[in-house]
Formats: sequence, structure tokens, C-alpha cells
Amino acid sequence: MTATGLRPFQGRRVLLGVSGGIASYKTAGLARLLTTAGAEVDVVLTRAATEFIGAVTFEALTGRPVHIGLFTPGRTLDHIKLARDADVVVVAPATADFMARAAMGLADDLLTACLLATESPVLLVAAMNDRMWAHAQTQANADHLRGLGYRLLEPEEGLLAAGEGSGPGRMAAPDTILAHVGRLLEPASSFAGRTVLVTAGPTREQIDPVRFLSNYSSGKMGVAIAAAAWRRGAKVSLVAGPITVPVPVGVEHVFVQSTTEMRDAVAGRVGTADVLVMSAAPADYQPAAPSANKLKKTGSARELELRETPDILVTTRASRKPGAVVVGFALETDDLLANAKRKLDAKGLDLVILNAANEPGAGFGVDTNRVTIVQRGAPEPEQLPLLDKRAVADAILDRVEALINGR
Ligand SMILES: Cc1cc2nc3c(=O)[nH]c(=O)nc-3n(C[C@H](O)[C@H](O)[C@H](O)COP(=O)(O)O)c2cc1C
Repeated sequence: MTATGLRPFQGRRVLLGVSGGIASYKTAGLARLLTTAGAEVDVVLTRAATEFIGAVTFEALTGRPVHIGLFTPGRTLDHIKLARDADVVVVAPATADFMARAAMGLADDLLTACLLATESPVLLVAAMNDRMWAHAQTQANADHLRGLGYRLLEPEEGLLAAGEGSGPGRMAAPDTILAHVGRLLEPASSFAGRTVLVTAGPTREQIDPVRFLSNYSSGKMGVAIAAAAWRRGAKVSLVAGPITVPVPVGVEHVFVQSTTEMRDAVAGRVGTADVLVMSAAPADYQPAAPSANKLKKTGSARELELRETPDILVTTRASRKPGAVVVGFALETDDLLANAKRKLDAKGLDLVILNAANEPGAGFGVDTNRVTIVQRGAPEPEQLPLLDKRAVADAILDRVEALINGR
């Protein structure tokens, strides 16, 4: 099982390079996130970076000495040692100047020397004025750096330095960078290059223009699975109802309202998916005749006729990619195992993840879950302890990976 939980970078070394851009103030936040995630962070500042942010800030945030010069008596081989020890190198912000020097293979300061001396993955997070980014020379440098195998996070659209308006130039947010670092730290996985389709959250079935039928699903479990699959190298699509948690970094997504809309969105994507994880909680029933106008009180009881919604797994089954691994979720209140086994057969699933709706700390809304994994052909279901949903996601994807490897 890969690193997960609250300190996913525990025991990993990150060389965090900072070059002289205005966005370097945000890199302090990144240093904090990396350290909180358990990483040992060695910060290297260019001379220009020290004009923008002090070494003391990074020293206080990381609890480790900060490195600046190439020619520091007593630390003259820092560039080799830092480069060798790092599991990943991140340069944020990477200025136009730094990118030019890196593209040329210069080693005229500590950070560029580290870049040449490392064999670990490198993430460059570009940030600069929009015209500097658009310049043909910068674009040529960016292409060359990608060709050298560096991962380049392009600047985002947004507000630039004071008086410069907005445009593509802003450095990616620290939590976006953190997610990319996590992906680079991930060991080689069978998910790399595969397509994973995940559904998450509830659906809403309209009663009238202002009311709907729904359930308490938050989408947390599906979002944790989408995030973990992307971190393992997959191309991930998320089809989500109205969820209460943000869509993870790197995940292509579409929002839907009703179960029928969710079915249509899945139908449009299922043919290319190597793995399907259906963790949404779509409504089973919808009003037979939703009202076009708001229903008013009549002074007496009202009956609402319901009809079944389409079954997403069953109605999209024939469109699945041959050999796809299919995971369904079953949230039950009674007859848990019998219901899960029935789902395996009726819906053509490889795994059913069973969670009890009425158990404290499990199921809807909470950050933890206690699941039982029922696998086609396995003699016994596998019961996992109460875990953070991110750890549950990794446990499920470990089982999926074993199935992929066996096909
Ligand atoms: C106020 C100010 C802000 C700057 N912001 C950026 C920036 O966001 N991106 C960039 O590429 N260069 C920026 N520069 C220019 C770099 O600091 C300059 O090119 C420097 O030589 C970079 O050195 P380094 O790559 O060794 O860190 C800025 C300069 C100033 C004076």
C-alpha cells in the first residue's frame, strides 16, 4: 500500500528551490504544507530570491538550515549532497531567468547545480509576468525543459503583480503544487496511463422547481478515490452530483443533478475506462410527474408517486471496455453481506465495497469509513478497520491494482 493518511510524505526528502519571483511569498505556504505532510524539506534560495523572502522564514517553517551560495566554506559539496538526498526537486516559483539557465544546463548557482546533479524527478512551477511567459524564448525554454523530462506546471490565469492586471502568469496554488509533488513521489504503478472513471455524491430528483429528493452523501469517499487514482498516475474522470468537497487536483470532472443525468454522463465515458468505481449514491426513486410550478399547501395530505430511476451500472454494462475492472459500493442498513453478494452478480462487478449506513464513523458525510471488501471469487469478505477515507481509497485501489495486474 502506498503512502497515505495525514502525513503522506513521512520519510520523504524534498529539495524546495525558490527563485527570485514575486510569488515566492506563496512558497512559504508550500514549505508549511510539505512539512505538515511529513516531508523533510531542504530549501535552496537563489540570490535573487533573497531579495523577496528571507531565509529565516523558511528555516522557521521547515526546522532545517536554508542553503543559498555555491561557495560557502564548510558546505562546498552541498549541491551534490542535497541533489542526491532529494526524493523530488521542486522549484517554485521558477522564474523566466531560472528556466533559461536550467534549459541551457548552466550550473552558475547552487540551485542550477543541484538540478544537474539530481537523478530524482523535478517539478518546475513557472510564475512570471504574462508577457514574459508568452515570449517565444520562454516558450522555447519551456518546451526544451519538458523534453529533458522536467515536469512543468504552467502559470495560471489570475491577478498579476500590482498594476499589471490579470493574465496567465500566476503561480499555481500551494495545495495544487503539493498534489503534483505527491504524484511525482508515487512509486511506479499499474494505474499509470490508465483511465479511471469515478462517480461520487448524491443525486437530486426534482419534485417541483424548489424541492428535490436526495440523500446525505457528501462525495468524500469518491473524491478520495479520484485523488488517489490520479496520484498513482491515472487519467481520472469524476462524475459528481452536488458534492460538499472540492474536486481534487488533476481530475477532469462533470457535475450532474439527477440520476438520469449521472447515467448519461457515465454512458459517455464508460467505453474508454479501464477502471470504474461507482461510489456515488444516486437516488433510487424519482417523482413520476415533477411539477412545473411550486407545490402549494392544500390543507390536506398529498401523495407523491415515485418511479424507479435508471440503474447506472446495469444500463451502461454493455458499453464497458472489455476487461475493465468494476467496483461498486453498497451502503446498506440490513442483510449487508447477502445484498453485497447479490450486487456482484446482478451488476457484473469485480469488487463490492460494503459500508454500513447506521454505524458511527462510517458511511455518509464523515471523514472515516469502515468497509468490507467483497471480491468476486474470493472465499471470504475482507473487513477493514475504521480508517480515514483516504486510507480506505488506497486500500480499494490496491485491490484494483492486483486485479489489473492479473488481466
Ligand atoms: C519586483 C520584481 C518582481 C519580479 N517578479 C518576477 C516573477 O514573478 N517572475 C520572473 O520570472 N521574474 C521576476 N522578476 C525578475 C527576476 O527577479 C530576475 O529575472 C532575477 O534575475 C531572477 O533570478 P533567479 O532566476 O536567479 O532567481 C522580478 C523582479 C522584480 C524586481
